[in-house]
Amino acid sequence: MEIITQVKEMQKRVEVYRNAGKSVGFVPTMGALHEGHFSLMRQARKDNDLVIISIFVNPLQFGPGEDYECYPKDLDRDRELAEEVGVDIIFAPPPKEMYPQTSSTFVEVERLSEGICGRDRPGHFRGVATVVTKLFNITKPHRVYFGQKDYQQALIIKRMIEDLNFDMEFVLMPIIREEDGLAMSSRNTYLNQREREQALILYRSLKKAEELLDGGERRSEVILEEIREMISKEDIAQIDYIGLYHPETLAEIETVEQEALIALAVRIGKTRLIDNLLWRKKSG
Ligand code: PAF
Repeated sequence: MEIITQVKEMQKRVEVYRNAGKSVGFVPTMGALHEGHFSLMRQARKDNDLVIISIFVNPLQFGPGEDYECYPKDLDRDRELAEEVGVDIIFAPPPKEMYPQTSSTFVEVERLSEGICGRDRPGHFRGVATVVTKLFNITKPHRVYFGQKDYQQALIIKRMIEDLNFDMEFVLMPIIREEDGLAMSSRNTYLNQREREQALILYRSLKKAEELLDGGERRSEVILEEIREMISKEDIAQIDYIGLYHPETLAEIETVEQEALIALAVRIGKTRLIDNLLWRKKSG
């Protein structure tokens, strides 16, 4: 496995594989790799001749006061783990390589970026869409892999691929959870023991909403009220948002019909965690 840090070198290298008729799978990451990332890499390994991942903590998607400076970084550890999963190339550029001083072009996916996480983190999805566009142009993949954990991000990238005619297949992979239900996230490493325990409220809330929907409740407000009440019992948990949304448009739903995305962001101490569950009416 190789680590490439320069854009031109990455582009040249992948071109050789493409010209030889090899398929290329790409998994973008910010490092601090965990089982959620590995599930994407394993799928990419199954589907493609060459697997590239990127490790780049993208300054453009962090707002002021967010955790850019202290975001966990350990390239040696990530490299070993990626190799075990069968990754061929890690693209790990320094920030100046991705954003030279002359850089002044951004990608904005309207509407889908505005609600949910976009409301709490202005500019975040513009940063994500811009870096992902650049990474696509640098790694030239046939297939790209994103996780459902960042549902809004995945939907935005899927929209962008269609809107900008990127010639690649988008693959969405399910959320990977710890045994007790906590969704895997690089930010889980920030949690101390008490916070880790309270963090379970995210998944428990989603399961409660699912249970209410399965039981026939269709009024979003009733479901949300019950969940808000549950979360308020955890003393260090604070809701950023919680809602039921249309899975394609992310518009808020008042009355659920066939399907809904239940999504939430909760601050546990200083750590902001997100999670979601896609609910579909069971047939029969
Ligand atoms: O999901 C992430 O880790 C990041 O948002 C991504 C897609 C690697 C872009 O920086």
